[in-house]
Amino acid sequence: MLAGCAVIRSQFALAATWNGGVVRSALNPQGSAARRIEDLWWILFGLGTFVAIFVGVVLWMAVRRNSGTQSPIERRDDHTGSSRHWILGAGVIGPAIIIVIVFVVTVRTMYAESQRPDADALIVDVTGHQWWWEVSYPDLAVSTANEVHIPAGVDVEIHLRSADVIHSFWVPALAGKRDALPERTNTLTIDADHPGTYAGRCAEFCGIQHANMDFVVVAHDAASFEAWIDARRAPAANPDSEIGAAGAELFVARGCGSCHAVDGLATGGDEPAPDLTHLASRRAIAGGLLASTGPDLRTWIADPHAVKPGVLMPDVALTDTELDALVAYLESLR
Ligand code: CUA
Repeated sequence: MLAGCAVIRSQFALAATWNGGVVRSALNPQGSAARRIEDLWWILFGLGTFVAIFVGVVLWMAVRRNSGTQSPIERRDDHTGSSRHWILGAGVIGPAIIIVIVFVVTVRTMYAESQRPDADALIVDVTGHQWWWEVSYPDLAVSTANEVHIPAGVDVEIHLRSADVIHSFWVPALAGKRDALPERTNTLTIDADHPGTYAGRCAEFCGIQHANMDFVVVAHDAASFEAWIDARRAPAANPDSEIGAAGAELFVARGCGSCHAVDGLATGGDEPAPDLTHLASRRAIAGGLLASTGPDLRTWIADPHAVKPGVLMPDVALTDTELDALVAYLESLR
């Protein structure tokens, strides 16, 4: 029985991995919080399955028994005693036991999920925006967007906020959902068993592009996390080509830098937009819709509203030459 359950679980885990090893399913847990939630899910699924089968069998027995020639009154008189037992056992005691089990295992999991990590855990500030995630490391002076890089094997405390409406931060393979609210900070402790990439998405309807608010959590081994932090701390690269340098000038002249910060070139502004200091090293832009370089990047800058209607990035009329220059500049931001 247990071996059978293990096989079913491993099949679920297999089916839940997609896209070159990016894990996105709650049934393929890769961290302790997600594992506790998965355990709870299987207990509830098992109890639900048991109840469904039990009710089906009893219904079938009742239908079969009632297909004889006795009148309903005769049948009632025949079975009054056993009916009482059925009502008491299957209608009161059984459900009460199941509800108590569900209550105990759920509260136990909720309690474990609400525990805070050690005081020296790495803190990552994550702020939801329509429709992207701002990610910063207050103790490490690093910020990025739509990617949360963490060291594997240790607890990380995510401090969640929202700059506008309610979002929900959900990395199914690592932890449960947690709301990102405008006027308070919610915390969520996550850890990843192994280095890897884990898909995340916004799990609270937050406007027209709610479905395009994806992000990833990338767990590193200790050395590679240090290397990532060092690379993020390095100032933005200077473009090494003439066209890239022209792009940098356009970036400022056309107002890109009044929303997007790039270390050493622009400080961003009141309108929050992703920091682009190391844009080209990211997996994706536009909430996971497009790659951060090449034709995708060009498509995005040329007409962001065609890709993601409702996005706050304004249309900037650019000639093909200007587009080439801007793309060359942004691709140099590794
Ligand atoms: Cu943010 Cu849905």
